Amino acid sequence: MRTVEWVDGYVRMIDQRLIPWELAFVDLRTFQEVADAITNMTVRGAPAIGASAAFGMALAGVQSRAATYEALIADLEAAGAILKASRPTAVNLAWGVDRMLRRVKTSSDATPDQIRTVLLQESERIADEDVAINQQLGAYGAELIRNGDTVLHHCNTGGLATVDYGTALGVIRAAHEQGKKFHVLLDETRPRLQGSRLSAWELEQLGVSYDIIPDTAAGFYMARGEIKLVVLGADRIAANGDFANKIGTYQVAILAKEHGIPFYSAAPISTVDLALASGADIPIEERDKAEVLAPYGLALVPPTFRARNPAFDVTPSRYLSGIITEKGIIRPPFEAGLRRAVLGG
Ligand code: MRU
Repeated sequence: MRTVEWVDGYVRMIDQRLIPWELAFVDLRTFQEVADAITNMTVRGAPAIGASAAFGMALAGVQSRAATYEALIADLEAAGAILKASRPTAVNLAWGVDRMLRRVKTSSDATPDQIRTVLLQESERIADEDVAINQQLGAYGAELIRNGDTVLHHCNTGGLATVDYGTALGVIRAAHEQGKKFHVLLDETRPRLQGSRLSAWELEQLGVSYDIIPDTAAGFYMARGEIKLVVLGADRIAANGDFANKIGTYQVAILAKEHGIPFYSAAPISTVDLALASGADIPIEERDKAEVLAPYGLALVPPTFRARNPAFDVTPSRYLSGIITEKGIIRPPFEAGLRRAVLGG
């Protein structure tokens, strides 16, 4: 089952706001609807929103009435700007839009209808590649998990955060498919609860042993010596290895270092942004305070109370034992390893 896919002229995605209570799909017929679905987190997770944006560009091609190549490119660039603005932190979003634009800009002798076909093919290629990349990444990362381990995971990085299979949760899935016996502690991941709602739902289906823990309990289990490995995702990795990920990652990283626990981020190469020298340059999304005060409409406190809601934080690369990618596990010094992985050589 894919998180997002093209079905007969429209984009179909799992409505992640309803999981674990209901598995329902939404059908989107315009790129604006795709942008809204990214903003309101119908779809979320860096690779999933990258693929969704690519499908959004394919929809923009279908929607455009342009009769010339130049007019179509102008419409696509306008759609791309709207899609890119739908969430700021995960670079996969801009990566998906830019890859689609690059692809059509190499076909300047094509008719608008041929360009529309190229857009659809490229978006489906991005989705297919995402699944293959995650399986490869999972195979590299699985070697880090040993029989008897307890692994800590933050947020959701599974099939739902990607087109399918997952990154950090893909590592866990690959180790489970290899027959390893281990246990996973899932940070519930306040305020949107991607850990308890989405990751637990996925591990239930895979049959992986897990417990949800409050975010505030990670240090408790580390101090007791229970956690042997931390593996989680990334939304944007700067050239020096600093990375943005779901809010709460930074404190898990510091706790892991204090307790001498290996700490890994798993992400496809499309999450690496060599244009940013360090994590200080990564834009951090601030979301509506209502997500903190009344998660999923459950009012915990009066709506007039004050709150702040940063959706991501930045973890300096010195806390990282390695970055698990489809090209292998990159270890310090990250600058050289990331550059080699992105640019080749
Ligand atoms: O706000 P979200 O749910 O989109 O945040 C998701 C994360 O932070 C994930 O850890 C990250 O995107 C990697 S998903 C493979």
